[in-house]
Amino acid sequence: MKPRFVFAVMVAAFVCASLLSSSAQTSPNAVDAEGHQWWQHAVFYEIYPRSFADSNNDGIGDLKGITSKLDYLRDLGVDAVWITPCFPSPQVDFGYDVSDYENIDPMYGTLADFDTLASEAKKRNIRIILDFVVNHSSDQHKWFIDSRSSKTAEHRDWYIWRDGKGPGQPPNNWVSEFGGSAWKFDPTTNQFYYHFFYAEQPDLNWRNPAVKDAMLDVTRWWYHRGVAGFRLDAVDTLFEDPGLHDNPVVPGKNAYGDPLQERKYNTKLPEVHDVLRGLRQVADGSGAVLIGETWTKDISELRQYYGDHSDELQMPMDLMFTKLRFSAPEFRQHIAAVDVAGGWPVYVISNHDIVRSYDRYGDGQHNDQIARVMAALYLTLRGTPIMYYGEEIGMKTTPPTRKEDVKDPIGKRGWPKEKGRDGERTPMQWDRSENAGFSKATPWLPVPPTYKTHNVADELKDKNSVLEFYKRVLSLRHTSRALLDGSYIALNENDPNVLSYLRIYKDQAVLVALNMSGSTQKVDFELSHHGFSSSKALASTPKSSAHGDAVTLEPFGVFIGELSKK
Ligand code: NOJ
Repeated sequence: MKPRFVFAVMVAAFVCASLLSSSAQTSPNAVDAEGHQWWQHAVFYEIYPRSFADSNNDGIGDLKGITSKLDYLRDLGVDAVWITPCFPSPQVDFGYDVSDYENIDPMYGTLADFDTLASEAKKRNIRIILDFVVNHSSDQHKWFIDSRSSKTAEHRDWYIWRDGKGPGQPPNNWVSEFGGSAWKFDPTTNQFYYHFFYAEQPDLNWRNPAVKDAMLDVTRWWYHRGVAGFRLDAVDTLFEDPGLHDNPVVPGKNAYGDPLQERKYNTKLPEVHDVLRGLRQVADGSGAVLIGETWTKDISELRQYYGDHSDELQMPMDLMFTKLRFSAPEFRQHIAAVDVAGGWPVYVISNHDIVRSYDRYGDGQHNDQIARVMAALYLTLRGTPIMYYGEEIGMKTTPPTRKEDVKDPIGKRGWPKEKGRDGERTPMQWDRSENAGFSKATPWLPVPPTYKTHNVADELKDKNSVLEFYKRVLSLRHTSRALLDGSYIALNENDPNVLSYLRIYKDQAVLVALNMSGSTQKVDFELSHHGFSSSKALASTPKSSAHGDAVTLEPFGVFIGELSKK
């Protein structure tokens, strides 16, 4: 190497190192020497407020109910709760149809109840994240009521209005996510409006700067009220092709009988990123975090949501994680790719739109064991986990068995192919009393029979319960520097049954070994290659243990151990 080149490399390395260390040291909100922000050390927990805790016994959960459970959440190891929409809403999509962005729906309480929740949460070091429905409002929002009133109304251009192609014909072939045409004819002005979801959820026109200003103001309003960030709903759908080109049709039909389409002209348009940058600028002014509902087809798509200059979402959810099969090689490959993608990973295994992890991964016989493996996995990876209420006690998806019991409109419309999302939104199972301690009145959705075997009160008394396991791993996650800040190093990468890895931070290391098979596995790790020797158990399932460099794992067993420096 030529000396001048060597010098240039040294200078470049020095500049990079100083930039990195200065960003770590000078970042005003850093919580550690690595420059990590609070949300990188936090565990998030999604609450579906209708189903969490009902304080006024009307069968529907509410904010006071959530406040009454803050001690439980603190003791569990939760640092931030994401509450799905609790704003005024006609509840066509159970809150994802917002009719006032700056208030609380009376069914959930009042703004004063929200303030109490926020201040009580703060006392327990729990932050509040709200759900911002950015793509659409309710058709009962005052903006839309005005918009539909005349072609010259002040808010006309706040939504997307077009003439039909011909009499009774929508402007193009776009199909709504929830079935049927994405256009609804409105006789008042003889035009169609666009709705990606239900017709009661008209899409806002983000090309109109007034919409952007109003929506950014909404976030400011909540930040001043103490909110620590937002989960942004359906960000992919914010923009549509202004030319309204038809989407290409592909073979097959959806659950509602519509032809399938490649959503080339109405999802994932590049303009989305301008909006995300705008929202991020405002969030940065308040030290807030933005979490994205980012359904991506691959990691390169996920990476785009962080922004080219890390100026968009801090936490785009890795929802591809929820699509993997319970298989060591599948998870290993995916984690390795996400880990090097460049952004801070955000792992999710369940939410209010998909089958719960307990039965998605469970084999029907070992679901509790498999739930522990999944907990150990996503709570020990490098990144931030977002839990879903009830996952920590092994709640199971319980879909309705009769069409007349379905509450979710997509279940009514798509029955029996699409049963809707009621099954993953059932009331939280607090104890074995009537209605599982959720409410004294009949709950809005039936409590699954499993509340007798899987509930908070009983599981807190059983050291082998799913809940106790979650608590142990969560507590470890908060105290281990290796788990909080360490790098991820895959081990035994050809093992078809056991997913294992190290998390290493300076001279501290944690070994995680997860048996994803139904047979006992003995695994040898050459720990000395990494500069460490045998491990001491930190959390493991009863019949899993380490001997020197080897670990024996019972079927679906977990071993998490601390390594000593060689
Ligand atoms: C995604 C939300 O998670 C889902 O529950 C809702 O129905 C749609 N967005 C529409 O807002």
